Amino acid sequence: MVLTKLKMTDCLGDGAGDMTPMDLYEKLTSQGDTVRTLKTEKAAKADIDAAVQLLLKLKVDYKQVTGQDYKTGCPPSECVVSQDNGPAADGEDMVDPWNVSTTNAKGVDYDKLIVRFGSSKIDQELVDRIERVSGQKAHRFLRRGIFFSHRDMHQVLDAYEKNKSFYLYTGRGPSSDALHMGHLIPFIFTKWLQDTFDIPLVIQLTDDEKYLWKDLSLEDCHRYTMENAKDIIACGFDINKTFIFSDLDYMGASPDFYRNVVKVQKHVTFNQVKGIFGFGDSDCIGKIAFPAIQAAPSFSSSFPQIFKGRKDVQCLIPCAIDQDPYFRMTRDVAPRIGYPKPALLHSTFFPALQGAQTKMSASDANSSIFLTDTPKQIKNKVNKHAFSGGKDTVEEHRKYGGNPDVDVSFMYLTFFLEDDEQLEKIRQDYASGALLTGELKKRLIETLQPLITSHQERRKQVTEETVKQFMTPRPLNYSF
Ligand code: TRP
Repeated sequence: MVLTKLKMTDCLGDGAGDMTPMDLYEKLTSQGDTVRTLKTEKAAKADIDAAVQLLLKLKVDYKQVTGQDYKTGCPPSECVVSQDNGPAADGEDMVDPWNVSTTNAKGVDYDKLIVRFGSSKIDQELVDRIERVSGQKAHRFLRRGIFFSHRDMHQVLDAYEKNKSFYLYTGRGPSSDALHMGHLIPFIFTKWLQDTFDIPLVIQLTDDEKYLWKDLSLEDCHRYTMENAKDIIACGFDINKTFIFSDLDYMGASPDFYRNVVKVQKHVTFNQVKGIFGFGDSDCIGKIAFPAIQAAPSFSSSFPQIFKGRKDVQCLIPCAIDQDPYFRMTRDVAPRIGYPKPALLHSTFFPALQGAQTKMSASDANSSIFLTDTPKQIKNKVNKHAFSGGKDTVEEHRKYGGNPDVDVSFMYLTFFLEDDEQLEKIRQDYASGALLTGELKKRLIETLQPLITSHQERRKQVTEETVKQFMTPRPLNYSF
């Protein structure tokens, strides 16, 4: 794919003061209207001339920015093609909804990703602000940069401070029964957001997506949805504040949802999704249409039972950064169909046991710790497979120290060990050589085992009846 110099922000209109193609397009359209009105109203020639001059200037700017001539009624959507979501250039990390890889043992360079994707860093100021506004200590995922990037979070907080509520939307593609620890990250954080801000949550299970992408039957995908829902419910979501849905079921049951899907479909061209997702001529048309289905839950009118038909409730989407392409597209479309853009909070990936060059993947059993693993399996996997930043011999390790930055056990502890001071002590001791790899692994094993065991216990409590309740379209405990 040819990468042009257009930045993501240029195309999607997220930039603060700078003129994006969409801004320019809108300005041009309204300036065209002004000229026409002046002419029909037979305004003074000088006024008409001035308006025409401005129109011409805008057309020149537009051509410069987009490389295209302005056409009435034809928004600058094709420009999205030139964004960088295709294969990464040499030496860059590869991140899209289906692949994550880098050559760096420390993992993906997330700061670079922020620049490439045109999102904003979650800096200390934002973390402090979340604490101030919510009155709660920030979740460890925020304190430690695991949720590291955002779009429009300040806007969400501004509104929240003025007593304007918002809702959460997240999801999962149910491709197997076997959830691993990495799958829990967005849900653990979403639960914290729900508890902290006391807001409704919708969870999309994209069984349709998995059917389209994988060699699975519709029945399998739907069955995985119902099984995965139990793991999600076991994360502790409040049944009065949470709606979980299967696309295969909800799409047909909710006219308002489907109307939003169609609206999005009308406003995104094949060229755009090709540019964003890399679709080709031999991809089935279901894939090409799917992004609209992942976009639709970002609009409150897709859930009239919860939002009473209101279409202006702001949406906040916690997700792993690889899902961002869907929501760049969504944010591009939103204003054109009269909806607010969803805000986003992006997480880093959960590294594979073998190292942070790639993320944990359910299709590689050795790369993953599953939520169904026994304490013994957890112990064996960590001891056998967790990539170590330690030295080859105890003597060398004592002398030179280990490298926590590439050590997977240490990375997992940053995700799951709650105590900041303990974590910092482990880091220092490991780096100095005082703590050996075996001891570090032991700390991790002792942290993970109870976590997974209690997840398993909570999951056992989730009955078919509970799943059904969570998945029934119904009002939640909020009045809109
Ligand atoms: N496409 C996601 C996956 O394959 C599932 C998903 C749907 C999702 N909607 C979402 C993830 C919203 C995060 C946020 O896992």
